[in-house]
Amino acid sequence: MNHSLEVATLRAWLEAGQPVTVLDVRLLAERQEWAIPGSVHADVYAQLKAKVPDALATTELPAGIPVVTVCAAGQMSQRAAAQLRARGLDAYSLAGGMKAWGLAWNTALVPTTLSGGTLLQVRRTGKGCLSYVAGAGDEALVIDASVELAVYQQLAAERGWRIRYVLDTHLHADHLSRSRALAVATGAELLLPPHPELAFAYTPVTADTVLVLGTLRLRVLATPGHTPESVTYMLNERVVFTGDTLFTDAVGRPDLKANTAEAAARAGQLYQSVRRLLQLPADTLVLPGHASQPVAFNQQPLHTTIGALRESLPLTQLPEAALVATVLDRIPPPPPNYLTISRLNLSGEMPEDSPLDLEAGANRCAVH
Ligand SMILES: [Fe+2]
Repeated sequence: MNHSLEVATLRAWLEAGQPVTVLDVRLLAERQEWAIPGSVHADVYAQLKAKVPDALATTELPAGIPVVTVCAAGQMSQRAAAQLRARGLDAYSLAGGMKAWGLAWNTALVPTTLSGGTLLQVRRTGKGCLSYVAGAGDEALVIDASVELAVYQQLAAERGWRIRYVLDTHLHADHLSRSRALAVATGAELLLPPHPELAFAYTPVTADTVLVLGTLRLRVLATPGHTPESVTYMLNERVVFTGDTLFTDAVGRPDLKANTAEAAARAGQLYQSVRRLLQLPADTLVLPGHASQPVAFNQQPLHTTIGALRESLPLTQLPEAALVATVLDRIPPPPPNYLTISRLNLSGEMPEDSPLDLEAGANRCAVH
């Protein structure tokens, strides 16, 4: 019998703090790329593949709480769960494995004074994408939507908000933007930094764009570099949504292969953008578009301040030429399928089959 557990169920258990042991049975190298927060590892992939019947006989697991086994796509984890059930454990296999986990998410409340407004960080822990919902009164805006539309609709409905604006910080290359679909589904206005190849209707944001929702006021700072059109959104002069320009522990990267003249030009723009951001008041809260690690189910928002970044980012102390050289030298390979994903984000279409096939893999947005 197939004892499998859906990603949505495991996600809900972890968000609720329900006791569960998540047992990762992949090869260590795969686990090091991306994993489920709090999971433990059993190095038994080869034995499971070879159908060794007692591959997990010596794996120690806490008694009395369910075990969810995980592999890449949900095949070997079924064998693992079956073996654990034979041992008398309440074991399940995560349906679809880490590929399906790519859409898993959790949330954190961002503690900040927004004159009665509320700010939520939605963390796509399966991939490292961060999006935001800010609401006041009965309206909300969403920035960089990256998980299923129903998540944002539910978060807004729970707080009595109607989603009025949906925005992206830039043309994403590592995940399919859900912003256009969210705007269509909710009747919200879609605002994007202008890009000449966008093939659908949207409201272009400019340096003069100001959105007002009750006590919330969002304005736009041009921060080119990661991509030419990248912007940072500033909320109530207290919070900046920096997209892939500035992270909590790193600067962004030009969204290109390293060995091009255009990448060097964009690295120079990035330097100027980061310098401008670092001149904001020291207590400005920085909320980036990505995390470089799976985000824990701990309700702790990932954020930093401009003041902390001034201290902690040695890269930003370099003169421009040295920073450009360092960024180009350390630039990681572009995310898998980045050209296809960018093209889909320009066309506004979602792929016919699961977006997870395209989006698999860790994000590689930062330069450390
Ligand atoms: Fe990006």
